[in-house]
Amino acid sequence: MRGRLTVTPLPTPHRFRPGDDLAAALLDALRAAGEDLRDGDVVCVASKVVSLTEGATVPLPATDDAHDAHDARRALARTEAVAIVADTPGVLITRTPHGFVAANGGIDGSNVGDGLALLLPDDPDASAAALRAELAARTGRDVGVVVTDTFGRPWRVGQTDVALGIAGAPALRDERGGHDLDGRPLAVTAPAVADELAAAADLVRTKSSGTPFVLVRGLAPDRPGTGADLVRDLEHDLFAVGGVTAVEHAVTARRTVRRFDATRPVPATALRAAVAAAATAPAPHHTRPWRMLRLTTTTRTRLLAAMARRWRADLTGDGVPEATITRRLERSDEVLRAAPELLVPFVVLDGAHRYPDARRTVAERDLFVLSGGAALQNLQVVLAGHGLGAAWISSTVFCPQTVRDELDLPAGWEPLGMVAVGWPAADTVLRERAPIDVDGLLLER
Ligand SMILES: Cc1cc2nc3c(=O)[nH]c(=O)nc-3n(C[C@H](O)[C@H](O)[C@H](O)COP(=O)(O)O)c2cc1C
Repeated sequence: MRGRLTVTPLPTPHRFRPGDDLAAALLDALRAAGEDLRDGDVVCVASKVVSLTEGATVPLPATDDAHDAHDARRALARTEAVAIVADTPGVLITRTPHGFVAANGGIDGSNVGDGLALLLPDDPDASAAALRAELAARTGRDVGVVVTDTFGRPWRVGQTDVALGIAGAPALRDERGGHDLDGRPLAVTAPAVADELAAAADLVRTKSSGTPFVLVRGLAPDRPGTGADLVRDLEHDLFAVGGVTAVEHAVTARRTVRRFDATRPVPATALRAAVAAAATAPAPHHTRPWRMLRLTTTTRTRLLAAMARRWRADLTGDGVPEATITRRLERSDEVLRAAPELLVPFVVLDGAHRYPDARRTVAERDLFVLSGGAALQNLQVVLAGHGLGAAWISSTVFCPQTVRDELDLPAGWEPLGMVAVGWPAADTVLRERAPIDVDGLLLER
């Protein structure tokens, strides 16, 4: 049986600085609250005061602008991170060297002081153990210490406190091997007791109440653990990079977007990430057989005009009426002229093997073109992941010489169309995708 638990806030007027005596501040707060320590008590300590006393502050570039300060903290989180878990304009989620996954890597800016950011404690388990040893030395009491912090949750709104470091207190209560009321064996049940203690501690304070310490009394004794016990290692983290569902979604969520928000520029970081992803596409003979030209406004205008002349001449030769030609050119221009960014991808045949006959020469060229297609798919998938739209337009494939002439490129550069890129226009409506009949596509012979 487990009995009554009491959770007592221990406020303190102390403003913590590097080198402060954390145990003394805690004992002062206990006395002020009319409390003492008893064997088996657990003291929850906000990681903020642990970091402050350990001097884990980092100066940030001076600024009065809240956005700039936020950006500086994000940049710091990036440099401190061992992995980026989610990177959105609103929030950056990183994995810290400890293995914690938190917004901005748990880097704190509140109640820290102007121009400073506060890192998480270097080794929260060691911090908890050091404080526990100090308390034992000064009071003779055997108490547990849990270093806590406030984290968001991926699947639920709101934050709760979690345990980063633990000493002399349980991390998990392992109920595996036991049975439920109906006698069914419990195979996975292991409540994260230390996280529950941390969350309970946060029930008796607010962020502005100056209450870094909370005393929990009445916890049933259990096998002590560490904060590290609660870190799910990467091998067992189903969501670290999203798993198969995320991969399938990333690929199938890419759609052709032909209308863009003209007022919003494409971030260079997204474009570079997309080109880097393109470079991971399969390619023959260990080559990277493509380049992408990002057109300046002047080059774009010049190239589109030259291509329009070529296209008009082709269609006139086909006997297409003048009005139809003009309409088709205007429609094409709507995408190519209006897109915030216009890329011209080229397959580059430098690395192609040479053959004496046409059959193998054409096959070799096809390999390179196929590889360029794979690269363009990767490019668009990653752009879509960033929320950007893209349209792969055939145009340049039909007038390669015009393109090479206008852009002053050698004969081995074969254009693969154009890719218009931008944020989708607010009123973008995607056409329903035709039903996919896998059995009609995946045939056996
Ligand atoms: C090589 C290639 C050339 C394309 N050329 C054009 C084009 O000239 N104009 C256009 O509107 N879409 C073009 N597309 C996009 C297709 O129309 C589009 O992929 C198709 O309608 C399916 O829509 P989704 O990409 O949204 O799934 C091209 C696609 C590929 C792969």
